[in-house]
Amino acid sequence: MTKLSVNINKIATIRNARGGNTPDVKLAAERCEMFGAQGITVHPRPDERHIRYQDVFDIRPVITTEFNIEGYPSENFIELVLKAKPHQVTLVPDPPDAITSNAGWDTVKHLNFLKETISKFQTAGIRTSIFVDTDLKNIEGAKQTGTDRIELYTEPYAANFDIDKESAVAPFTKAAEKAISLGLGINAGHDLNLDNLKYFVKNVPGVLEVSIGHALISDALYFGLDNTIKLYLRELKQIES
Ligand code: PXP
Repeated sequence: MTKLSVNINKIATIRNARGGNTPDVKLAAERCEMFGAQGITVHPRPDERHIRYQDVFDIRPVITTEFNIEGYPSENFIELVLKAKPHQVTLVPDPPDAITSNAGWDTVKHLNFLKETISKFQTAGIRTSIFVDTDLKNIEGAKQTGTDRIELYTEPYAANFDIDKESAVAPFTKAAEKAISLGLGINAGHDLNLDNLKYFVKNVPGVLEVSIGHALISDALYFGLDNTIKLYLRELKQIES
């Protein structure tokens, strides 16, 4: 069964456009869970342009499912995560000015840094995941870091889905098979949506969790948050159609 973790950064982006507290990200997290989401993801960036560090502490106590904090492991980020103690931390190699995450880790090049960072989180009882592409060298490198899980960077799948979905998904199937053979758990995310989600989880073995933000929050404008979450759960086959 693949869990749905809703990334609520976009809610914070709308809030920040006006100042004030509308929409309320804490309430949004609670509602996502009430409507069936099995996890909440936030991605605080150094400039706090969407989720702020304070949001993480405000949201933390209301989470009844799984809380996932993702981001680049700067000193401030590591301190934040160790204080907030989410269920999972996802390490992303994005530079501070990136619009959105746009690559996975080179796990061979950054092996020592990742190893050290991951062990800090695991010692604190926080499950770790690292964002990687489908290059098998990076999957093998991920194993060496000691991480519990990887998160497959699905943007290339989404970008090629309409052109040729079979060849778009093939590298992800291979990467997942490799990860499973190494004993790594598998998450996935980036640009997953109502068109491409079902085919992905059907063809990629062992996906434990998908984290979805941009498309889901956009769909909620048309369908409402409750309906939208149920539509995504249906794609993950958790709700009868
Ligand atoms: N996973 C990671 C590591 C991300 O950085 C993001 C975007 O913040 C997502 C998943 C979700 O991507 P999207 O907003 O395209 O669904």
